Amino acid sequence: MQRHNVAAYPDSQLVFPCGKIMKNRFMLAPLTNMQSHEDGTLSGDEKHWLTMRAKGQFGLVMTCAALVQFNGKCWSGQLGIYSDGHIEGLRSLANDLRNEGSLSVVQLHHGGMRSYAALAGEMSVCPSENVEHDARAMTLEEVEETRDHFIAAAVRAKNSGFDGVEVHGAHGYLVAQFLSAETNQRTDRYGGNLENRSRLLFEIIDGIREACGSDFLLGVRLSPERFGMELAEVKELCGILVAKGQVDFLDISLWDVFKTPEGSEEDGKLLLDHFTEMDRKGVKLTVAGKIYGGKEVHKVLDAGVDFVTVGRSGILHHDFPEKVMTNPGFKSTEIPVASDYLRSEGLGESFIKYMQRWKGFVED
Ligand SMILES: Cc1cc2nc3c(=O)[nH]c(=O)nc-3n(C[C@H](O)[C@H](O)[C@H](O)COP(=O)(O)O)c2cc1C
Repeated sequence: MQRHNVAAYPDSQLVFPCGKIMKNRFMLAPLTNMQSHEDGTLSGDEKHWLTMRAKGQFGLVMTCAALVQFNGKCWSGQLGIYSDGHIEGLRSLANDLRNEGSLSVVQLHHGGMRSYAALAGEMSVCPSENVEHDARAMTLEEVEETRDHFIAAAVRAKNSGFDGVEVHGAHGYLVAQFLSAETNQRTDRYGGNLENRSRLLFEIIDGIREACGSDFLLGVRLSPERFGMELAEVKELCGILVAKGQVDFLDISLWDVFKTPEGSEEDGKLLLDHFTEMDRKGVKLTVAGKIYGGKEVHKVLDAGVDFVTVGRSGILHHDFPEKVMTNPGFKSTEIPVASDYLRSEGLGESFIKYMQRWKGFVED
């Protein structure tokens, strides 16, 4: 199999195409934590939990899915970046993350049909009518407006001092709903073949690059399968993203970094291999899913991934990177853990309550 980079050491720095430098190979995954104020402004709890991760040596700290347009709201306590009123809080977070030596990135999100009408204040919207989710199709003007909201949110992130943004194109939210042939039945220029279904994503990317400049860190998160996505199409899409040369990194959300693609378990080829074998032309690759210790970190980097993305282990250990860099044999603590343990790791009450919904994570 062709490899395009030499395996990286976890503590080695990484230079993105935009020129930003990450001090090591650990990114904190975007993690919804429901700790924002109801108007989307940043709370002390949210700032504390993220800053603690930067102190624990995550070279890049990403925020949770932050809302770019009010009608896409999915969760109570979701971070907002849809208004200038959010800038003050975001600026103080960006400052703290920078002071700890971490790159800072906001994940840009719109829930589409998965938004929660009671919170979003109106019926959910999506590419095409969806009866199951009680969602209506967006008009052409609405699609263009939403694209512009993503771009405006990226400008707010930049003005707040963030190093960059990641467009959330995974997990079946709005951008993924457009990418998927299952949920996108449009007949205008945003529906039909892959070029049309990915038009919204590419217009968002081009718009962000144009508005935020060549030194702004820009990533895209994609689901390679499930959520209405086809692996072959996602690979094709990644190839186009690489060829266009506008993004700095691809964040492939695997949920298990060592899984095989659905339906082709027997041939032994990992889902991960489909992405490491691509010619990425300098665009960096990260993956997330069950990286629970030094063993997985090393295996993933050895496989040719540029940096690892860590979710639940980063909740359990604010200093997961530091622990792995000093002890390659380090393993995350066993779950379930006590609420008090999570408090000691910097989670506030709303986040702990949310983690109780993740089966087996918090003791009863
Ligand atoms: C509590 C929780 C919240 C999450 N919130 C987000 C989110 O806001 N945006 C996103 O793209 N993924 C989200 N995810 C997925 C994670 O970013 C990550 O991809 C996933 O948890 C797999 O990594 P892990 O096994 O290291 O936890 C969330 C996962 C968890 C456990």
